[in-house]
Amino acid sequence: MLLREALAERVTNLDKLTYAGNLENLRELNSDARYRFVRGDICDAALVDSLLAEEGPDAIVHFAAESHVDRSILSAQPVFETNLRGTFVMLEAARLHRTARFIHISTDEVYGSLAHPNRAEESFALRPSSPYSASKAGSDLLALSYFTTYGLPVIVTRSSNNYGPFQFPEKLIPMMIANALADQTLPIYGDGLQIREWLHVDDHCRAVVAILRGAKVGSIYNIGADEAMTNLEVVGRILKLVDKPRSLLKTVTDRPGHDRRYAISSEKIRAELGWRPSIRFDEGLSETVRWYRDNSGWTERVKTGQYKAYYEQQYGSRIG
Ligand code: DAU
Repeated sequence: MLLREALAERVTNLDKLTYAGNLENLRELNSDARYRFVRGDICDAALVDSLLAEEGPDAIVHFAAESHVDRSILSAQPVFETNLRGTFVMLEAARLHRTARFIHISTDEVYGSLAHPNRAEESFALRPSSPYSASKAGSDLLALSYFTTYGLPVIVTRSSNNYGPFQFPEKLIPMMIANALADQTLPIYGDGLQIREWLHVDDHCRAVVAILRGAKVGSIYNIGADEAMTNLEVVGRILKLVDKPRSLLKTVTDRPGHDRRYAISSEKIRAELGWRPSIRFDEGLSETVRWYRDNSGWTERVKTGQYKAYYEQQYGSRIG
């Protein structure tokens, strides 16, 4: 429903459909005449140029990214290519075609780990720790330089951890739900006391729509729901919701360079645009668990041979 609400006169979705991309997730839009799907790579400058010439969009919302920290640690090449080079291609094309708005979707990870009780405001220094977050910090700076240098109407958003239906089961919440439902081990990195702030994907999308409609160009907006907790707390809640024992938990070798705590202030978007989250974590998590329970076929289909190979590489020796 949110997808339909957000659709403007016309939306073109350019997606390379790498391992986490899935046309099944957007099936409800297929019959909508305002929606066009194009399979392609944002690093393909000729393709991006021809699409902008054809469609002449009023705005570009640049969501495309390699977004998983663990994969970026196994190999940094994809984050460099897509997040840095891809963003450069998109910015250049937007500049040449004089696109009226360029929303660059980024992450709170660019601020790095923050000691309690600090919360990063948009002006905080960037201290990324992983190849993934460094690539996002670099692309934020590149996007903002296009505003300063060329006057391209860029806006940067930095959201906290997302969760909700259709999320690829490599990230904490969907993976733990899928594993728990299948009575598999839930691997907790280190002591599990790292803190993340959780935002339902629908609230994130509503924030992006608010930004698209009313934000000041050249600005940065943090987007968070103030629902911070440790990973152990999150996974404990999941186990309760699926009614499985804590014996499924296993603490395993930590992620290298693991950020201890993310925390952002989202005062700016609340004050300037009146956005606020509408889904409490408790409610969103139980609805998400229900979704994964009801859509076990979806999970089975995305856990392909490629997923199994990744899982083995990432967790094989950790779980033993
Ligand atoms: O903060 C926003 C960011 O949140 C986004 O920019 C990233 O794209 C997104 O992946 C996410 O990054 P995280 O590294 O925080 O998410 P992830 O779900 O991978 O991990 C969340 C926490 O759970 C983190 O402290 C690591 C821990 N974890 C994760 C996995 C996959 C485990 O303990 N075990 C696991 O198996």
